[in-house]
Amino acid sequence: MTELIDLSGVEFWGRSPRDRDRSLAVLRREAPVSRQRPLDDPVLPGAAGDGYWAVVGHAEVVAVSRDPETYSSDARYGGVTMEALPPALARATQSIIAMDAPEHALLRRLVSSAFTPRRMSLMDAAIRRAARDIVGAVAEPGREFDFVAEVAEPLPIWAICEILGLDEPDRTWILPHANAMTGCRDPLFGGTDPIGALRDGLVAFGALTAELIDDRRRHPGDDLISALAEAEVDGERLTDDEIAAFVILLVIAGNETTRHAIAHGVKALRDSPEQWAAVAADPEGLLDGAVEEMVRWATPIMTFRRTVTRPALLGGHRVTPGESVVLFYESANRDESVFEDPWRFDIRRRPNRHIAFGGGGPHFCLGAVMARKQIRHLVAEVVTRLPGLELAEPRYVLGNFINAIGTMAATNGAKP
Ligand code: HEM
Repeated sequence: MTELIDLSGVEFWGRSPRDRDRSLAVLRREAPVSRQRPLDDPVLPGAAGDGYWAVVGHAEVVAVSRDPETYSSDARYGGVTMEALPPALARATQSIIAMDAPEHALLRRLVSSAFTPRRMSLMDAAIRRAARDIVGAVAEPGREFDFVAEVAEPLPIWAICEILGLDEPDRTWILPHANAMTGCRDPLFGGTDPIGALRDGLVAFGALTAELIDDRRRHPGDDLISALAEAEVDGERLTDDEIAAFVILLVIAGNETTRHAIAHGVKALRDSPEQWAAVAADPEGLLDGAVEEMVRWATPIMTFRRTVTRPALLGGHRVTPGESVVLFYESANRDESVFEDPWRFDIRRRPNRHIAFGGGGPHFCLGAVMARKQIRHLVAEVVTRLPGLELAEPRYVLGNFINAIGTMAATNGAKP
C-alpha cells in the first residue's frame, strides 16, 4: 500500500491540506520513514536529485532535527528546501538556516540580538497598534475584502521592516519581491521560474542591503542592519553578501509563515462558532492556547530537507551519506500518536506538542516569540472588531514548501 503513496508528484502538492493528509496518514501508520522517487518538478529540472527519504512521523522529525551532525543543513549540499539548490544560491538566500556548527552557532548568536526578550517586549505595543490599524481598516460593516491581502499579509512584513529599520519607500518595495521568492511556483504570483525568482530577489535585496549598510555605517541606528554592519565574527566583519543573505532569509522565514498561520488559523476559528465566541469573551485566558493551535493547524512550513553526512539508521532504514531526508512538519503535526483527533481544531488542546517552529534542534525558529505576538494581537482585534466576519473557502497556492493561502474572500457581515 505505502509504495503506492507518492509524495513527489505535482498533483500531490496541488491538493488541499486535508486531501494531502489522507496519504500522509497512511504513511504515518505504516511507514513513518519511506523512500520516495525524485520530485516531479516541471520548473526545477535536475534539482530534484535521485529521490529522498520522507519522514512523516512526529518522533522521527524530532529525532532528525536534533541530530545535526548526522543530518546537515549546509548550503554545500543545497540547503534546506526540498529541491537542493545550487550551493552558491543556497548560501546567498538561506543564510544561517543553511549552515552547520560552528559557523551556524556564531552567526545565530549575532543575529539573535534582534530577537532578545527585551527587544520583543519593546516591540509588543507597536505590534498591537499595527494590528489595531490593520483590522480597523476593514471594520466598516458590510465591507468586502480579501482576508489574506488586507488582514493576514500586512503585519508580518511590517514587523520585518521594523526589525530592519526600513523607511518608506523600501517598505512598499519589499513585499512583491518577498512574495515572488516564495510563491514562485504559483501563477497567482506570476512565476514559473523559481531559480529565476530567487536570483532576481537576490540581486534586488543585494542592492537594497548594500545601500542600507552604507547608510548605517555612517548613521548607525538601533536596527538589525546597523548591528550586522558593525558585528564581528571571529574577528571578521560580515560581508555585504552575508548580510544580504540574512535579510533574504528573514523576509522568507518571517513573512509568509506568519501570514498563513493567521489565514488558516482565523478560518479554523471562524468555522468553530463556539471557540470564536469563547476567545472573544475571554481573550486573556484563551488566546495563548488559540495561537498554538492555529500554528499547529496551519503548519506554515510544510517541509525542510537535510542531507545525510554519515551512515545511520532512521525509522528502521539504513541511510547513507549524500542522501536527502525530507521532514514533513505538516504530517508530524497531525500525528495521531501525539495529537488526539488531530483534525479537530481545539484551542484548549493540552499539551500541544506541535513542531511547526521546528523539532527542537539548533535551527529552532528564531522568530517564534515574534510570530506568536503578531498572531495574538491580530486575532484579538479580529474577534472583537469583526464579530460577523464571513470567510469563503481559501484558494490554496501550489507548492511543496509554504502551506499558503493565496486569497480568501471576506465580508464584515452583521453579528451572527
Ligand atoms: C508562524 C510563523 C513561523 C513559523 C511556522 C516558522 C517556522 C520555522 C521553522 C520550521 C524553522 C526551522 C526550524 C528547524 O530547522 O528546526 C524556522 C527557522 C527560522 N525562522 Fe521561523 N517561523 C515563523 C516565523 C518567523 C518569524 C516571524 C521570523 C523572523 C522575523 C522567523 C525567523 C526564522 C529564522 C531566522 C530561522 C532560522 C534559524 C536558524 O537557522 O538558526 N520565523 N522557522
